[in-house]
Amino acid sequence: MTSVPQQQDSNALYSAFAGLGAVMFALYAVKYSWAILRGVRIYILSEIWKVDVSKFGKWAVVTGATSGIGKAYAHELARRGLDVVLISRSLERLNQVACEIEQQHGRSTRVIQADFTDGHRIYQHIEEGLAGLEIGILVNNVGMNYAATLVFLLDVPNPGQRISDVLNCNVVSMSQMTRIVLPQMIQRKKGLIINISSEAGAHPHPMLTLYSATKGFVNYFSRCLDSEYRGEGITVQCVAPLLVSTNMTWNMGTNALVKRADDFAREALNTAGLSSFTSGCLSHALQHFVIDHLLPGWLRLAAFNVYQTATRKKTEAIFHGTCKQE
Ligand SMILES: NC(=O)c1ccc[n+]([C@@H]2O[C@H](COP(=O)([O-])OP(=O)(O)OC[C@H]3O[C@@H](n4cnc5c(N)ncnc54)[C@H](OP(=O)(O)O)[C@@H]3O)[C@@H](O)[C@H]2O)c1
Repeated sequence: MTSVPQQQDSNALYSAFAGLGAVMFALYAVKYSWAILRGVRIYILSEIWKVDVSKFGKWAVVTGATSGIGKAYAHELARRGLDVVLISRSLERLNQVACEIEQQHGRSTRVIQADFTDGHRIYQHIEEGLAGLEIGILVNNVGMNYAATLVFLLDVPNPGQRISDVLNCNVVSMSQMTRIVLPQMIQRKKGLIINISSEAGAHPHPMLTLYSATKGFVNYFSRCLDSEYRGEGITVQCVAPLLVSTNMTWNMGTNALVKRADDFAREALNTAGLSSFTSGCLSHALQHFVIDHLLPGWLRLAAFNVYQTATRKKTEAIFHGTCKQE
């Protein structure tokens, strides 16, 4: 038999746990309700209630602008009233995209040919090409993986060179382009810097080891920069997509999970000024929510391993010509 004081103790303990449970429930209810409301504003209402991105300045600069997400951003920015500077390696492709933009959107363009794997020596040439322009938006988009398929670090072809190439292209380019463009934005107290990261930067992605680590850099670089320069009128946005059909993703078929580059850029640009860290579109934000909040870390890593191994086998088959790409 329990004595009266013991009974009172257990009742008090029960009430304390019940109270704690109610408080936790209320906190989570507020947190997720707020997240849903923000999500509706950022990903749904932004399609009709658009932020005017031309207010940041006359020109936009896009790195890696001749295909995929960069090209799509360049077109979308021009459609929304900005002149565009395109930077990539191939002069022929640069001129072609510039021509398309001028014809389709009636905006001015400039092209700068540069290979971001060449390290710090390219930046004087870029700085000269941008001199005197009122740059409102910089899209640090250029990025590369170190192999055409998914591989372990030591299986990368010519790893000594490729490791430097990836770091120069994914990390140094972003830091140097920001260093070049930011001062005139600060002078005008206005500017938007969009840094393209990846879901691979949010969690470790085996078989994309260096790529995943460089995208982790992009996340921290963007968040720190946003905090440092927000007071100067500068908005820094980190965009971390999941799958977008481009050359980098072997132009895979699109569906509810895999976006077309032009749809992705349009939706992602709608979120500029509304969110400093975003997956870029509703489909990717929902996928990120499931991966980030609902899966425990060990299961996430195991699932990535299974998915990456399957993708590796499939892409190897494509590259060795034993199966047809969808
Ligand atoms: N596609 C996805 O699913 C996905 C997902 C998450 C994040 N991302 C990120 O999104 C960004 C764009 O990727 P994407 O899929 O659009 O790639 P993509 O289709 O392969 O396009 C890459 C662009 O960068 C240029 N480029 C590549 N290497 C360069 C270099 N060394 N120097 C100068 N320009 C270079 C290419 O043009 P040239 O060949 O003419 O130089 C091209 O315009 C990357 O940062 C990537 O990490 C992509």
